[in-house]
Amino acid sequence: MTEKTISRRGAICGVVLASLGLAMDFAPDAAQAAAGISTLKNGKLQIALAQNKVLSKIGGSVIVGLSDGSELAVVRVASGVNGFAALSLTCPHNGATVMQQGNDWICPAHGSEFTLSGKLLRGPARQALSAYPLATTAKYLTIG
Ligand code: FES
Repeated sequence: MTEKTISRRGAICGVVLASLGLAMDFAPDAAQAAAGISTLKNGKLQIALAQNKVLSKIGGSVIVGLSDGSELAVVRVASGVNGFAALSLTCPHNGATVMQQGNDWICPAHGSEFTLSGKLLRGPARQALSAYPLATTAKYLTIG
């Protein structure tokens, strides 16, 4: 998995999009827009777990829209305080936005499939979804 970074501008836009509910257009079992997002002075995004109860269950995820039009997902991949991943939803094959279906991420363009934590299951993509650096505490997730 490759790591991505978040620009300060992208982080601010992500907060705005998520707070307006404009960051997503997904299937019924897909992720929902993140709530309780703040942008730290260093440009990193902080997400309050108390405001994103969906992240308490494995498979739960929330979406943050970024200024470049791409999206990232924070997803609960395992139990415990560190059981999260922050993934780019841009398919590494040709840039379409992947969507969550159950415990997989599916690319609607050409059918690539990824695990909940972004590992490649099926091509034509040849690599995993990119991951953002993620720090966790019992109350907050910090991305970037
Ligand atoms: S863009 Fe996702 S499989 Fe082609």
